[in-house]
Amino acid sequence: MTMTTTSAPVSTLALLLLGQSSDLASERGVDCPGVLPPASDPDLVERATAAKAALGDSVFILGHHYQRDEVMAFADATGDSFKLARIAAERPDVENIVFCGVHFMAESADILTGPDQRVLLPDLAAGCSMADMAARDQVDRAWATLREAGLSAETIPVTYMNSSAAIKSFTGEHAGAVCTSSNAAAVMRWAFEQGQRILFLPDQHLGRNTAVRDLGLSLSDCAVYDPRLPDGGLTRSELTDAKVLLWRGHCSVHARFTTDSVAQVRERVPGIQVLVHPECQHDVVLAADFVGSTEFIIATIEAAPAGSSWAIGTELNLVRRLASAHPDKHVTFLDRTVCYCSTMNRIDLPHLVWTLESLVAGRAVNRITVEVETAKWARVALDRMLAMPGPSARD
Ligand code: 13P
Ligand code: SF4
Repeated sequence: MTMTTTSAPVSTLALLLLGQSSDLASERGVDCPGVLPPASDPDLVERATAAKAALGDSVFILGHHYQRDEVMAFADATGDSFKLARIAAERPDVENIVFCGVHFMAESADILTGPDQRVLLPDLAAGCSMADMAARDQVDRAWATLREAGLSAETIPVTYMNSSAAIKSFTGEHAGAVCTSSNAAAVMRWAFEQGQRILFLPDQHLGRNTAVRDLGLSLSDCAVYDPRLPDGGLTRSELTDAKVLLWRGHCSVHARFTTDSVAQVRERVPGIQVLVHPECQHDVVLAADFVGSTEFIIATIEAAPAGSSWAIGTELNLVRRLASAHPDKHVTFLDRTVCYCSTMNRIDLPHLVWTLESLVAGRAVNRITVEVETAKWARVALDRMLAMPGPSARD
């Protein structure tokens, strides 16, 4: 099955939730064709190993840090979204890239790879609720509001990697760039050299945290643009005065952490250091000791002295892996309640086996293909990011 990401088929939420329908305009999820091996199959590891060996150099498996252990065991390269985008762009020799991550990441890989290379997402239901919070028609309406206010020419869109190809394409068309959590500060600084105002999509928290922590702006320089309200819920002077217009979107995983989580863990474990992802809410970021992307989180724990204690505010698969990789350090999850990214977790060993065995049988399943015009402008926005200085560690 090939999925072209700019068509807009009709589907019902009920069927989507049952995993029996398709909404190709959404990151939320679509059905998965074919017969999956049962999760109880005791031979899954052997089957994945055999299929991967049979495919040899024709397949390259990318694994985002939030993926399950059972999937990461088969990844040829692991990374955050920035690193994985770079790796995909640097492998023109690989025929099939199996992307163990979420839909927007596979779209970016398709955009950055050649037309003969295939990018496969083992489960099409692996979307991203944050990316879904900015639809192209909403962003077009917001831009029309800015144009009518005479502000569009001086406003530069910056979109987080965690957005659909259609939003990246909008960004490329309007002289903007993509950013990731690793390089948001560099991209925002670049944007302020191009214009006076940034429209930051779709994660308000990454936009606010970067503007205030890294660029030294004040909270009052930022205004939240709510796409569900006329003119984003902002008056003309609020639109004009804002240096950063923050799209009202968030990550349902990272936004769950609160300052109570931070206070409680500090009380439970005296001397513990709190390390969070910049998708967390601003007050949580202020309460933390260190802030950075998943790559930064990993590097910080690797460099930490034995015996040190850490509470980490990011996706649970990564935190659990870090804890077991560093038994000499005390690594704990920032919140007491379980907090996996449910869509990242859709990619499991049965889906990986199914994808690899289908390739062995000559069928490329769940191919992600971004429509040509969308891909052209999205690539412009991605290339602007890739041409900028690399990720900066932050603390
Ligand atoms: P990074 O991979 O850029 O750290 O982003 C985290 C995330 O939420 C990915 O979905
Ligand atoms: Fe989207 Fe958040 Fe899941 Fe990342 S962790 S894929 S931003 S919902």
